[in-house]
Amino acid sequence: MNPIKRTQPKDKRQDCNVTMDTALIILAAGQGSRMKSDLPKVLHEIADAPMLVHAMKAADSLQPERIVVVTGHGGEAVGRAARDWDERAEIAVQEEQLGTGHAVAQAAPLLKSFNGDAFVLFGDTPFIRPETLDALKQARQQNDVVILGFHAADRDARYGRLVMDGETLQRIVEYKDASPEERAISFCNSGVLCADAALLFDLITEVKNDNASAEYYLTDIVGIARARGLTATAVACDEAETMGINSRIDLARAEAAFQAGARVKALEDGVTLVAPETVYFAHDTVLGRDSIIEPNVVFGPGVTVETGARVRAFSHLEGAHVSRGGTIGPFARLRPGAELAEDVHIGNFVEVKNAIIDRGAKVNHLSYIGDADIGEATNIGAGTITCNYDGVMKHRTRIGARVFVGSDTMLVAPVSLGDDAMTASGSVITSDVEPGALALARARQVNKPGMARKLMDRLRAIKAKQTGR
Ligand code: UD1
Ligand code: CA
Repeated sequence: MNPIKRTQPKDKRQDCNVTMDTALIILAAGQGSRMKSDLPKVLHEIADAPMLVHAMKAADSLQPERIVVVTGHGGEAVGRAARDWDERAEIAVQEEQLGTGHAVAQAAPLLKSFNGDAFVLFGDTPFIRPETLDALKQARQQNDVVILGFHAADRDARYGRLVMDGETLQRIVEYKDASPEERAISFCNSGVLCADAALLFDLITEVKNDNASAEYYLTDIVGIARARGLTATAVACDEAETMGINSRIDLARAEAAFQAGARVKALEDGVTLVAPETVYFAHDTVLGRDSIIEPNVVFGPGVTVETGARVRAFSHLEGAHVSRGGTIGPFARLRPGAELAEDVHIGNFVEVKNAIIDRGAKVNHLSYIGDADIGEATNIGAGTITCNYDGVMKHRTRIGARVFVGSDTMLVAPVSLGDDAMTASGSVITSDVEPGALALARARQVNKPGMARKLMDRLRAIKAKQTGR
């Protein structure tokens, strides 16, 4: 699995209204046994990013100073994924999974001297919206503890129930421990909460495990806070945001939900999707207004398609930048480092990797362009291959502006073609071509009159002798 990295540098803190420092505590120690996987649950991917990264991304809007990921199973890999996304991520190891309260307590030593609010998120709940976290932050201004709740459509869902008294949250009761009256409450706990970090850790020290699961429930801090005369409330979000992932079925549903949302967002942003349900987005796909995406296009991570570009059917793009007016495909593959300037045309069965292609250049048919620079308005003929790999090392091909590369040219890198140069079809180019020159690098054609017929007659005679026909 490739590390999922930010493709753009993180915004520096610009918002001067932010007064309170924020720490994230992301719980990700659960085993996820229902995934039936060797991979830790939170590293399973949605739209090409681990679900953990989705949770971290949602919290970007909080501009957290500190990010603590509580890991257990597969801790090292989880830590690596977290740091690939945000190098500041810190890891707290929860050796034994004794409950969500116990999990949060593992972050306490790291955040001992931290001054500010802590947000607790679950690594397996990737769809909390930034707006929702902002609403929690707002509610925190009037309350010591804020819980994110939602109204569960399924009355029998086994979520913790929020016991409200007007705007005040009195306590949270886990489904297993709830009375029939409490189970009838539809307002449920999402698991997300916000409180002053020092207070949170202090409240947790009072949490006991004398309950139906014999676990240290994070949710108990609400009752404990109320008993101390502190204030608590709950903010509601859409149930869809709180969707947790416990199985492959959940994962597939989450992927579908992500894709559905990404398609709607693209359409709303002014992108034409000819058959939206056949287009697949990565978590970070950027499509410019008036770009047109034809059916069955797949975007891997790190793709930007600018205004007015068209991606034709059955193309696969990953780590690529398509500038204004470009046309890609049908059946094209753009791989990481494909940097295409304005009005570049990439046609059918063309693969481009780690190559910078300048304005108006065309690679229209059946070519491989890898580790190359191609100048403005250059035309690459059908079947051209940059032979970039010698079996040990990769080498670069440099092609100038307005070059005409004849069909079926092999460009054995490292090699360069100067501006306005030309190669003859079928050439194997092994040495540099100066500007304006024509390179012919193929055997000269010889025609032998009558030779073909003579040869065929001889072969037929041999066959007749062998088969008697
Ligand atoms: C929790 C809430 C419940 C809420 C539900 C929403 C508690 C006690 N209950 O229940 O009120 O309605 O989430 O989905 O908090 N984890 C650890 N270490 C542990 C235990 C859990 O890191 O020791 C992590 C898990 O990996 C998971 C998250 O915490 O990401 C939630 O744990 P889970 O066991 O799924 O909690 P629920 O029983 O679903
Ligand atoms: Ca759960």
